[in-house]
Order: sequence, then structure tokens, then C-alpha cells
Amino acid sequence: MATGIEAMVTLRRMTVEDLTAAHGLSSEQKWPHRIEDWEMLLSMGFGYVAERDGPDHQKPDHQKEVIGTAMAWLYGTDAATLGMVIVSPQAQGMGVGRRLMDAVLGDLDGRTVLLNATDEGAPLYRKLGFMPVGPVFQHQGAAFAVPMAELIPDERVRPLGSKDMATLRDLAQRATGMNRDALLDALVPGAQGVVLTRRNEPVGFALFRRFGRGYVVGPTIAPDTGGARALISHWLGSNAGMFCRLDVPEESELSTWLDALGLPCVGRVMRMVRGPMPKADPTVTTFSLTTQALG
Ligand SMILES: CC(C)(COP(=O)(O)OP(=O)(O)OC[C@H]1O[C@@H](n2cnc3c(N)ncnc32)[C@H](O)[C@@H]1OP(=O)(O)O)[C@@H](O)C(=O)NCCC(=O)NCCS
Repeated sequence: MATGIEAMVTLRRMTVEDLTAAHGLSSEQKWPHRIEDWEMLLSMGFGYVAERDGPDHQKPDHQKEVIGTAMAWLYGTDAATLGMVIVSPQAQGMGVGRRLMDAVLGDLDGRTVLLNATDEGAPLYRKLGFMPVGPVFQHQGAAFAVPMAELIPDERVRPLGSKDMATLRDLAQRATGMNRDALLDALVPGAQGVVLTRRNEPVGFALFRRFGRGYVVGPTIAPDTGGARALISHWLGSNAGMFCRLDVPEESELSTWLDALGLPCVGRVMRMVRGPMPKADPTVTTFSLTTQALG
């Protein structure tokens, strides 16, 4: 029979009514998500909350208190990302995080699951069979200076047009090895976008959207570092003084460049995978993430 905290804590599917409490948990961790960011995440995926009886649990109309969250987003039929795994500090170390992970993973059976782990989350994920892939660096700030992008001959950065959606889907699929159609369909209407062309052929793109304390440049998908810099320079150059954030994988080789522009690295997470890594096209790369949760 369950005893102690086990007996007091129950899990159930997350609903929009939980988002105020969920936002409280992320704010407590000093995570920057706004309630709108949580709403967007839930509209694109699903989650579980852990809740326990509040101090007035003897009363007939007592309220339960949300003390933990975990979410996931599906890509096609064989992949998913997992994130927003949070347990309230007072309830940590008592198995709640593991129960939330078990619940979400139970719904992802048969899929490769990717996540970006904080130092606190990594031990739990390792125990659940996740393997490290490589670090992702979080860069952000408002006081940056961006030189004009150096474009190579026949290269252009132009606004995203309504006919570009199929190209975006194709580039995102090739860069990640995952079907990102639904993600892009959800993101693009609320984002600004630019496309990188070479000899008039689209070869990359970058979105710019509201998130957290300001704006995020991501995803940035390009054939090489030069192309990624041209795309990112467009957004930073036209938004100097605004708070901007980029999450860049180590292999993007953008971290030193962003530091030098005045967007310092303020944190690091470890990309981890459970299951076979989705097969990406090596000629197209993700240079900045959509968000840590969405990959
Ligand atoms: C990460 C987090 C969700 C874990 O939740 P939790 O309820 O404290 O975790 P649990 O008590 O279920 O512990 C899970 C397992 O990890 C182990 N573990 C937890 N922290 C550990 C640590 N620092 N070192 C080694 N093992 C650790 C526990 O021993 C436990 O193992 P077991 O199930 O085999 O006994 C929680 O610490 C948290 O919310 N941290 C802040 C937000 C965050 O960083 N989230 C992760 C985002 S990727």
C-alpha cells in the first residue's frame, strides 16, 4: 500500500485550468515562460500534473495543490520531445519527478524521445535510459551590436512568404530527422520569418517570436555557419536593444560569435535521447532551437 507522500500525491492529465499553477512552478524556478508560452506549449502537446491535498484537505470543498508538471510533443509517428519537468522545491527528492516521467514516457512508447536536461534533471533522465548527445548553450541579452551580415555572392535574406511553408517543412524535417509540420503550423502564424536563398533557391530560414522575457530567434535552420549567421544577424540587427535569446547546440559553433556580439552565454543544458537518434540530413543543420522544450 502507498504511504506518506506517495499516497498524498496523485497524477492526472494537464488541462488549461492548470496553467496558472504550472506558471507559478516555472516562475519559482526563475524560468522565463509567460502564461502565453505555457498555453502555446499545451496547445501543441500534452502533459501531466502531480497534485497533493492542500492544508485544508479535511474540508469538503478543499483544493488540491499542483506540485509538479511534465509535458511532451509528438513529431510524426516515431519521435517526441519532452520538457517542462518541474517539481516544487518542497516536494523534490520524494519520487514525484520519476512518477511524472513514467506517466509521460508511458504515452510515448515506441518513439524516440529527445529532451534538454538541466543539471538537476540529468540524473533522473539517465536512470530512465536517456543518453547525452551534446551541450546546448543559452545566450541572451539586450545590449548587443551586430555588424551587417556578410553575404556571399548570390545569397539573399528575404522575408518569409505564404508560399514558403512547404520549404520550411522540408528543411525542418531534414535538419532534425523528425516531422515538424505541426510545430511549424503552430509557430509560423505568431512569428516573423526570413528565408536564406542561394541562387534564388531557399536553403535556410529563421523565425523570430515572442517568448519569455523578450524574443527568441529560433528555429534557425541553415546549410552552414555562414548562412546561420546571415539569418541571425538579420533579426539581431533589426532588433538592437530588445531582449533576445538563442539556444545554440555546441556543434553550431555560434557560441563564441554570440558572446562577442554581446549576447553572453547564461546557461547550459545537455541534449539527451532515449531510443535511436532520428536520422537527419547532414547538409542541413539546426543552429538555434525553437525552445529547449520543443527542441
Ligand atoms: C529534476 C526534478 C524534476 C526531479 O524531480 P524530483 O521529484 O526531485 O525527482 P525524484 O525524487 O523523482 O528523483 C528521481 C530520481 O533521480 C534521482 N536523483 C534526483 N536528483 C539527483 C541528484 N542530484 N543526483 C543523483 N540522483 C538524483 C533520485 O535518486 C531518483 O532516483 P530513484 O527514482 O531511482 O530513486 C526536480 O529536481 C526539479 O524540478 N528541478 C528543477 C527544475 C528542473 O531543472 N527540471 C528539469 C528540467 S530538464
